Amino acid sequence: MKLTLRVWRQRNPDSPGAMATYEVDGISQDMSFLEMLDTLNEELILGGDEPVAFDHDCREGICGACSLVINGDAHGPERTTTCQLHMRSFQDGDTIDVEPWRAAAFPVVKDLVVDRSAFDRVIQSGGYITAPTGAAPEAHATAVPKPVADTAFEHAECIGCGACVAACPNGSAMLFTAAKVVHLNSLPQGAPERESRVLEMVGQMDAEGFGGCTNTGACATACPKGIPLFSIAKMNREFVRAARKRG
Ligand code: SF4
Ligand code: FES
Repeated sequence: MKLTLRVWRQRNPDSPGAMATYEVDGISQDMSFLEMLDTLNEELILGGDEPVAFDHDCREGICGACSLVINGDAHGPERTTTCQLHMRSFQDGDTIDVEPWRAAAFPVVKDLVVDRSAFDRVIQSGGYITAPTGAAPEAHATAVPKPVADTAFEHAECIGCGACVAACPNGSAMLFTAAKVVHLNSLPQGAPERESRVLEMVGQMDAEGFGGCTNTGACATACPKGIPLFSIAKMNREFVRAARKRG
């Protein structure tokens, strides 16, 4: 495949940035999108140019590091992570726009790399339990009904990629925060911090400058792990319950 790439280049957080156009040839349909960018970078390095900076780690859809807006969609045209997107989703001769996550709370560090440490601070504010852990307990020591375990597991699948924020016209982190709150608040191990967790995490989310939710549903559509939109309603119920209890 031969492709035209229009890639966001930005030297540092303070420089303005602009789209740069590159031609790449010899791209296999079996390559991942990141392998296609590797090919571009090899050519740039051989030509004495600066390679395009982009985030990645596992390249297996589990770490949440990869983060590209491709032709206007967070993670591109398939509902998956950028690293699991393959070039068979594109046609020979296509022009592809590649941009970083766009959100006030995710400032660009360089090229396609953004600073997602706001997510870390939201987690630090309440995404933990204080119950003593130690060695793994016997599986049935704390009985958890199957539907509750399923709900917790479904929400634990969030990999913190930030596609929900990038897809949202408000730059809202409600889906991410809801995934963490519902995961831990569903389980008996998370009960001691049930109220403080939701109050602190929502407070930190607001303090980081993420926007509010207006129910567009763009977050859940972009989420590669299928975190459902109703998680936000669940988090809101937890928030109201906790706020009333605190008084
Ligand atoms: S909710 Fe989905 S889109 Fe948002 S950070 Fe978690 S996995 Fe990524
Ligand atoms: S590089 Fe880890 S999820 Fe994509």
